[in-house]
Amino acid sequence: MKQIIELIAMELEEAFEKAGYDRSLARVTLSNRPDLCEYQCNGAMAGAKTYRKAPIMIAEDVVGNLKDSAYLAEVEAVKPGFINMKLDDKFVADYLNQMGADENLGLTQIEKPEMIVIDYGGPNVAKPLHVGHLRSAIIGESVKRICRKMGHKVLGDIHLGDWGYQMGLIITELKKRKPELPYFDDAYQGEYPEEAPFTISELEEIYPAASAYAKEHEDYREEALHATYLLQNGHRGYTAVWNHIVKVSVADIKKNYRRLNVEFDLWKGESDAQKYIPDMIEQFKKDGYAYLDEGALVIDVKEETDTKEIPPCLIQKSDGASLYGTTDLATLIQREEDYQPDRIIYLADKRQEMHFTQVFRAAKKTGIVPEGTMLKFLGFGTMNGKDGKPFKTREGGVMRLESLIAEINEEMYKKIADNRTVEEEEAESTSQMIGLAAVKYGDLSNQAAKDYIFDVDRFTSFEGNTGPYILYTIVRIKSILNKYQEKGDTFKGLKVGRAHGDSEKALMLEACKYNGVMEAAFAETAPHKICAYIYDLANAFNRFYHETKILAEEDKEKQKSYIALLMITKEVQESCIDALGFEAPERM
Ligand code: ARG
Repeated sequence: MKQIIELIAMELEEAFEKAGYDRSLARVTLSNRPDLCEYQCNGAMAGAKTYRKAPIMIAEDVVGNLKDSAYLAEVEAVKPGFINMKLDDKFVADYLNQMGADENLGLTQIEKPEMIVIDYGGPNVAKPLHVGHLRSAIIGESVKRICRKMGHKVLGDIHLGDWGYQMGLIITELKKRKPELPYFDDAYQGEYPEEAPFTISELEEIYPAASAYAKEHEDYREEALHATYLLQNGHRGYTAVWNHIVKVSVADIKKNYRRLNVEFDLWKGESDAQKYIPDMIEQFKKDGYAYLDEGALVIDVKEETDTKEIPPCLIQKSDGASLYGTTDLATLIQREEDYQPDRIIYLADKRQEMHFTQVFRAAKKTGIVPEGTMLKFLGFGTMNGKDGKPFKTREGGVMRLESLIAEINEEMYKKIADNRTVEEEEAESTSQMIGLAAVKYGDLSNQAAKDYIFDVDRFTSFEGNTGPYILYTIVRIKSILNKYQEKGDTFKGLKVGRAHGDSEKALMLEACKYNGVMEAAFAETAPHKICAYIYDLANAFNRFYHETKILAEEDKEKQKSYIALLMITKEVQESCIDALGFEAPERM
């Protein structure tokens, strides 16, 4: 379905043209004075200069041509030259009914779906998941769902960090602790054990220990770097250790993401790119793109129009080791071979912006990725604590994702238990659901690139612009609908009719905006737009609810129309929170 704003703009274009003015003046916006009108057009003001006419005269000419509008009940030219509009009640009701009858709630499915890869999550194997990875997972999951709602073909790829120096560190530390293991005996020819030589908690202790030790001891660091090199070049024993590390760690990572309602289609990692690297580097050299600079192999990526210095993209260090950019370029070769994506969206900390600029430019310059493919980096800001510094535990350590979620769930549980309307066993799963909404909404309601303050008290509040408030609103609608049904009334054939009052019309107008909001959220890769919208929608509903007797309404026709409106409001809300990556419970 076309957006309402597009429909009005089309009528206005005709009206401008008929009156002898350019169609392009017919830009329609939501009213910034909702007390006066619902939509407005300021084109007459913009045209005054060109047509050497007072804006009010232009506006009046245009308004004169809108008298038989199918969409507008009131159009008015207002000084100095605004065109103020109110929608026709019947038109709005029909629009909502069409939305309700459409399986995508009026969201037009893209005619030519794109193949889109979303690279998000990006946890590093064997390192504990920390809050930095939370944002990548939450925002990426939402972006993926938004793309899907538009009708695109989407693959979410976790892109595990499983190939770097941390692997060499763990191998080196393990060798120090258990030198007798067969992995470290170069003469060993037999099969390696199936069982990993460590548990997940041991693994999580090994990495930070090794990392700290390496910082103090140069020869240990050298050894770890060499182990990384050997691993990357196929050392048999190290590869076996590596397999254990990945297996143990990935099982734990999966558990964490499941809890976050984050699902990946592809569990590929940096290591999967390894096999493309040697040929890629050869090709870069052959084509003259890569050259040696102080022993390192680099590709120039600066462009004439740059306003700041963009250093060359590093492909290989002088010791032959590949780098972060090397794996990202090789991963692009793999993605091109396997999926020919039209668009790839990367989620990572905004401090990685330079890295992605270099990689994207190198990929286009060398022809790894066709010119028309869109490579987009969605950099996010830092999640800070109340003190404005990067979020830490109370003891000042790095906050683990698991602990953070446990803390939120506990807080939610306390709140639910306080005004308990649900059974004990339900309370736990309900508090997890609301907790997830609190965390995700708290994150997504900010523009991704901005830093934000993670405030447990605020995020878990049932009032204000929070996830729990949104869920509370949905649950309230569900409860009214249930009661309606319990009285023996049916939902079948219910239609929204003309609005009976202001708050009802305002709710109807909000609900109609759904397709426009989703399209904008996709076009701008901006989940926060959905949050802003459902907050407005929730407020519009709550105002209507407080001003209207719904279940006690005696006029049955009126009541049916209310119920139909509630059903659509609920569907819109649910589709939006689905796009954000959480769901609403039945009760709370
Ligand atoms: N593992 C990286 C990190 O922890 C994020 C990976 C982002 N994706 C990518 N293709 N480079 O920062």
